[in-house]
Amino acid sequence: MRDFHAFSNAQALSQATAELFIKTARKAVEERGLFTVALSGGSTPKHLFEELAQPACSRDIPWDRTLIFWSDERAVPPDSEHSNYRLANDTLLSRITIPEKNILRIKGELGAQRAAEELERDLTETFGDQGMPRFDFVLLGLGTDGHTASLFPGTEALSATTMTAAVINPPANPQMDRVTFSLPILNNARTVLFMVIGDSKRRIVSEIRSDPTAVERYPAARVSARKTLWFADHAALGKGE
Ligand code: 6PG
Repeated sequence: MRDFHAFSNAQALSQATAELFIKTARKAVEERGLFTVALSGGSTPKHLFEELAQPACSRDIPWDRTLIFWSDERAVPPDSEHSNYRLANDTLLSRITIPEKNILRIKGELGAQRAAEELERDLTETFGDQGMPRFDFVLLGLGTDGHTASLFPGTEALSATTMTAAVINPPANPQMDRVTFSLPILNNARTVLFMVIGDSKRRIVSEIRSDPTAVERYPAARVSARKTLWFADHAALGKGE
C-alpha cells in the first residue's frame, strides 16, 4: 500500500520529512533503545539534511542512539563529488554531534564488490544474523527510469536475496559501479519514505500511482514495506503551479 502526500514545494516537503524523521527516531529509541536509518543518495535529500542540521531539529534527535546507514553508494572515495556519504557529511553529519561509530559509511573506495561485503558485515554486526535486518526508517529517491537506491530496471540486483548487491556498470548517470540495498531489506523496513521533487519525475510518478503493471517495469514500484510513504511536490505530481 502506497501512501502519497503532496507538498507545494521542496522546502515544505523537506520540513515534513524532517518532522517525520524526528518523530520516528524518538519513538524507535523509546521502544527499542535505538533508531536505525538508511539515508538516500542523489541530490533530493540535500534540503532535508540541511533542515535536520538546524538546531531546532537536531536538538530533538537522539543522535547518540541513532545508527546511520545509506541505502546505496557509488564506488568512489568519501570525498568524491559523486559520493552520497559526502553530501550527507557536508550538509548534516559535520554539523551535528554524533559518535563516529554510529555512522556506517559504505566504503565505496574499496570497489563495489568489497564494499558490499563490508556493508553486509556492518549490517550483521548491527542487526544480528537472524534474518533480514528491519530498519526503522529508509529514505529513498526515484530516478526518471523508475530506479530507486541503485536498483535499476532489468539488472541482476533486482533479484538479489541477500541484504546488499554490487551493481557493476549500471545504466546510470554518473556511470560508475555502485552498492545497493536489495529489495528484501527495503521491504522489511518499518517505514520507507520516497522523496520526489520536480517535473522530471512526473511521468514515472503518474505511472507508478495509476498503472498496476508498473511493478513489472520499475524497481521503485516494487518497494512495499510495512509503511511506504511517498512525499512528492506538486511539480512531480503534475498539479497546477
Ligand atoms: C543515487 C541514488 C538514486 C537517487 C535517484 C534520484 O545514488 O543516485 O540513490 O537512487 O535517489 O537517482 O536522484 P535525484 O535525487 O538526484 O533526482
